[in-house]
Amino acid sequence: MKHDLDDVLAEVADVARPRAAEGRVTSYIEAHANADPNSFGLAVIDMDGGEYVTGEVDEPFAIQSISKVFSLVLAMQTADEAEGVDKELWSRVGVEPSGDPFNSLVQLEHEEGRPRNPMINAGALIVDDVLLNHREEPPQAVIGLLSELAGDQVHLDEIVRDQTAEEAARNRAIANLMASFGNLSHDVEQVLDAYVHQCAAAMTPRQLARAVRFLGNDGVDPASGRQVLRAEQARRVAALMITCGTYDSAGQFAFDVGFPCKSGVSGAIVGVVRHRFGVCVWSPPLEESGNSLAGHVALHELAERLDLWSI
Ligand code: DON
Repeated sequence: MKHDLDDVLAEVADVARPRAAEGRVTSYIEAHANADPNSFGLAVIDMDGGEYVTGEVDEPFAIQSISKVFSLVLAMQTADEAEGVDKELWSRVGVEPSGDPFNSLVQLEHEEGRPRNPMINAGALIVDDVLLNHREEPPQAVIGLLSELAGDQVHLDEIVRDQTAEEAARNRAIANLMASFGNLSHDVEQVLDAYVHQCAAAMTPRQLARAVRFLGNDGVDPASGRQVLRAEQARRVAALMITCGTYDSAGQFAFDVGFPCKSGVSGAIVGVVRHRFGVCVWSPPLEESGNSLAGHVALHELAERLDLWSI
């Protein structure tokens, strides 16, 4: 099995890696704009801890929007510990795909400040606001959760945090618009601070593949045996990933890949294959929706070769 999977990963990398030339590295955050467009890493980790990797899988980068999965996980854990949080969360953010860019303001105006889902920026800001209502230091808690699941101490990339904060005009507009509709409990700057902090968590493809596995294992972290989420909650996070995790390309991802994925502007995409694998691919050049172009190709090739679809 090890030998076969290593061969499959090598074939997938051969097909996907050259396609990066068709994408564009994000330009609005300097540290990511300076990323090497030729970097490519793919990690596939099974539920028994078998790690299958190719390329630069131990290279850290700020995970950006992939953090939205883990802040949502934290909010779901919080909802199990404190009464009323589940209702608060799902009354303030929806569970429908947006079909719009990840940082769009358009629907928010029409829909009275209630974001479509927690995987877009507006929804992630609401998740952070809910966390701020019920937990001490949510950003540190997100980093703590990531460290536990990755099996390594995760650090903050302070340069990316500062650059993300400097480029937050649009996120600030989103937060202010939601506040104008009464859908923000905290000061806009406090919510933005929590958000940019989690975006700057620096992780490697290998660590990310380890960290998402529990979602495909009925909520139990295979490394520690800890029930991180109830199985029902893990299924819900996976449902949001497949319908909303890759923004206005979510339909195309479901069509091409067929298992739940979540992307970030630094060029990583995590995926989860139920009862089989945690996956992470990293290649900085993006397609128009902000997902890694070669990463999308790699996940498609992987799904085809290993028959990984889950829908
Ligand atoms: O909010 C932003 O603009 C970024 N810090 C994160 C966005 C992101 O990663 C979207 N992903 N494709």
